[in-house]
Amino acid sequence: MTEPFTDAYALVRDAADPLRALRDEFLIPRHGDGEQAYFCGNSLGLQPRGARAMVAEVLDKWATQAVEGHFLDPAPWMPYHELVRETLAAVVGAEPSEVVAMNSLTANLHLMLVSFYRPTRERPAILMEAGAFPSDRYALESQVRFHGFDPATDLIEVEPDNDDGTISMQAIERAIATHGPRVSTIVWPGVQYRTGQAFDLEEIARLGHAAGAIVGFDLAHGIGNLSLQLHDSDADFAVWCHYKYMNSGPGAVAGCFVHARHARTDRPRFAGWWGHDQASRFRMGPQFVPTAGADGWQLSNPPILGLAPLRASLDLFARAGMPALRAKSERLTGYLEQLIRTQLGGVLQIVTPADPAQRGCQLSLRVVGGRERGRALFEYLAADGIIGDWREPDVIRISPAPLYNTHADVLRFMHAVSMWAQR
Ligand SMILES: Cc1ncc(COP(=O)(O)O)c(C=O)c1O
Repeated sequence: MTEPFTDAYALVRDAADPLRALRDEFLIPRHGDGEQAYFCGNSLGLQPRGARAMVAEVLDKWATQAVEGHFLDPAPWMPYHELVRETLAAVVGAEPSEVVAMNSLTANLHLMLVSFYRPTRERPAILMEAGAFPSDRYALESQVRFHGFDPATDLIEVEPDNDDGTISMQAIERAIATHGPRVSTIVWPGVQYRTGQAFDLEEIARLGHAAGAIVGFDLAHGIGNLSLQLHDSDADFAVWCHYKYMNSGPGAVAGCFVHARHARTDRPRFAGWWGHDQASRFRMGPQFVPTAGADGWQLSNPPILGLAPLRASLDLFARAGMPALRAKSERLTGYLEQLIRTQLGGVLQIVTPADPAQRGCQLSLRVVGGRERGRALFEYLAADGIIGDWREPDVIRISPAPLYNTHADVLRFMHAVSMWAQR
C-alpha cells in the first residue's frame, strides 16, 4: 500500500502508535519555538528525562554516604553494574551472565581480541568488512601487528559487491570459503555504519564456525535497533556502545557479550581485580581467578556516574520491549523510505537496502547531483532544525528512532527536502 504524503495521515499514524507515550520520556532539543526533528540517534541518542535523577542519586549518595555508598541503599555501588544486567541481556537476546556493561567499545574490542584472536602460522588472519568504522580497523590491524603478523595479508577485508556499496551474503560466504582455512577470527558489524545495511548474524556465525573461526560482532549500530538474539546466534563475543540507540549519554559506558560456552574459558585474557571471582575479590590474593561469565572480563570497579544514565534508558527499553520497538521501527523507516521513493526519487538515492531484514532504522541517503549538493541539503536541513549526520564522502544518515521519533518528524523531513529541491 502506498501511504499518503499528508499531515493528516502522519497524525493518525502517530495517534495509533502504541509506543507514543515514550517520546515524552525524552528531552527533545529545541529549535526556535518548537522542537528539532532529531534523526541522529545513530550517533548520539537523546537524553531520557529519568537520566538526571539517576545521576543525581549517585551524587547525593556520594555527598551523604561517601564510601558507605558502596553498601547502602539506594542502589549500592558495589553491585551497581548488576542493576543493568537483566534488561541489557533482554535487549541483545542473551542470558544475563553473558553480558556486562564496562569500558568503551574499542577497549572492549581489544579485550575480546586478547581472548578470541589467537592467531597461529596456519590461521593468522582476521576477516572483516571493507570500509569498516575506522576505530574497528585500527583495533584489528593493531592486533594483527601485535601478534607479529602482517595486515597486508592477514587482515582480510570483504569488499562491497553491490553497486550501492552494500555487501551481499554471497560475497561474505565466498570470502569465508576462500580464506576460511587461514582465518582465526571474524569481526562483523550488526549494522554497517555508512550504508545502514544490517546483516544476518546467525548465518555469519554459522559460516564462520563451520570454517573453524571464532566469530564476534560490533553492535555499535545494532543494539537497541535490531532484534538481536545473540545467544541463539551462537556468536562467540560481541561489543557495543550505549550512546547511540541506547541513549545513555556521550561516551557512555559500553557493553560486551561473551557466549555462555566461554563462561569458564581458559583462554588468555587481560585481567583486573573486578574480573576476579566475586566471592574472594576482597581477600586481595595475588592469584587471579576469573569470575564466571562476561563479568570475568571486567578490569576495574565500574564508573557509577557513567552507568547511572544507562539505568534510566534501560527502564524505557523494558517498558517498550524490543519486539514492539522493532515493529514500530520497521513502520517508521518504511514510511520514510516509501515517501522518498515516491516523492523525492529525483533528489535522493537510498543506499540502505529496501528489505527490512537488511536494515535497522537508519536510511543512508545520497543526493542526486553529487557531494556539494549533498552538503548543501545537509546544512539546509540542520538550519531548519532537522538533524541527521554527514558521513564522508557523500552520505546523509537519517535514523528515525522508534523510542522518540514520529511520523510527523518524517513528514517534516520530507517537506523540507521538497522545499529545498524546488528552490
Ligand atoms: C561501528 C563503530 N565501531 C566503533 C566505534 C568507536 O566507538 P568508541 O569510541 O566508543 O570506542 C564507533 C563509534 O561511533 C562505531 O560506530
